[in-house]
Amino acid sequence: VFEPLIIESHRGKYTVRFGEKPFAPLQRSPLAGAHFIIDAKVASLYPRELEPALSSGAALLIEATETNKSLHRFPEYVEHLVSHDVRKTHRLVAIGGGIIQDITCFLAATLLRGIPWHFYPTTLLAQADSCIGSKSSINVGDVKNILGTFTPPVEIYVSTEVLETLEGEEVRSGIGEMLKVHAIKNPAAFDGIAADYDRLYSDNRLLEGYIYHSLEIKKGFIEIDEFDQGPRNVMNYGHTFGHAIESATGFEIPHGIAVTMGMDMANYLSLRLGLTTASHYQRMHGVLKTNFMAHGRASIPLEPFLGALRRDKKHTDDELRVILPDSEGRITIRLLAGDQGFQDLCADYLSKELSA
Ligand SMILES: NC(=O)c1ccc[n+]([C@@H]2O[C@H](COP(=O)([O-])OP(=O)(O)OC[C@H]3O[C@@H](n4cnc5c(N)ncnc54)[C@H](O)[C@@H]3O)[C@@H](O)[C@H]2O)c1
Ligand SMILES: [Zn+2]
Repeated sequence: VFEPLIIESHRGKYTVRFGEKPFAPLQRSPLAGAHFIIDAKVASLYPRELEPALSSGAALLIEATETNKSLHRFPEYVEHLVSHDVRKTHRLVAIGGGIIQDITCFLAATLLRGIPWHFYPTTLLAQADSCIGSKSSINVGDVKNILGTFTPPVEIYVSTEVLETLEGEEVRSGIGEMLKVHAIKNPAAFDGIAADYDRLYSDNRLLEGYIYHSLEIKKGFIEIDEFDQGPRNVMNYGHTFGHAIESATGFEIPHGIAVTMGMDMANYLSLRLGLTTASHYQRMHGVLKTNFMAHGRASIPLEPFLGALRRDKKHTDDELRVILPDSEGRITIRLLAGDQGFQDLCADYLSKELSA
């Protein structure tokens, strides 16, 4: 088990603790003033471990769906908390993956102008990536992640044992983000996790080490640029194209798997634009493809993809801000013209390379 990881934020320090037993701190800490927001599936899978929270009388169970993190659902959550006499001196406790995190974090930011929140991430994506970094994002209608805040939690508790009940696809989604952050660190770090790829599924200790390391790498970026004004942008590697892929396929592809496709696509475009070399493209292609092909979805429609890319909130009117590998395999931020040539390269990737 690893030492706690301390993260510096604009609200002060917060801690990621690692432990053997799922939700162990619930058994020891006083629960007065805690309002639990729990993924309904996790509640049904872990009734014994979550017993203190479930029997506290203050638990709100929510199904982890994108609709449930939409603005129109929030009055219900607020009314629940108000009817349980929530106070500024209380705390919210999120138990679940990124969806429960986003709901709780957004409530914590706005309820009573801000109350503390704690987090027990139960998906690999949340443990290895989203649990740190302060962001909340919620949906409005069909527009995903359009409202948000920067609101760090007080404490995070990670136990990899809860990952044993996760669907294979959700594990690959988390691994997608882990591959991303290792690629951002440097080519050798990516090659290291790629070489261990198969063992990540069978060796929990090894997985925990890579979770820890993923958070350590991300910590380096969020501590210098918590509000995502510059250096942290590089964490969007695979996301510009990944988001467009998610949108073009009606969000049926888990986020981290779309990101894995997005990284491969970024590498391909970089190669075709002469910015990186065939060896860097090939070096990463094998493991990225293994991670996304298991999803079984290989066709992405071009027009909806390009439409989503144009609507991406990070772009200026005629330039696309994309994160690409350079000739040394380093992941760097670039501005590209979204011209016909660029669109043709996207079409090539989606029609030939993706399914090749
Ligand atoms: N705020 C951020 O920084 C940030 C970053 C990345 C993603 N996100 C958001 O997170 C969401 C995706 O989150 P996610 O990938 O963590 O998954 P999720 O919360 O959508 O959960 C995925 C599925 O796994 C189930 N599940 C959760 N824990 C489980 C467990 N231990 N065993 C079995 N099943 C379990 C859930 O019920 C759900 O069916 C998206 O809405 C995305 O926009 C937010
Ligand atoms: Zn992501």
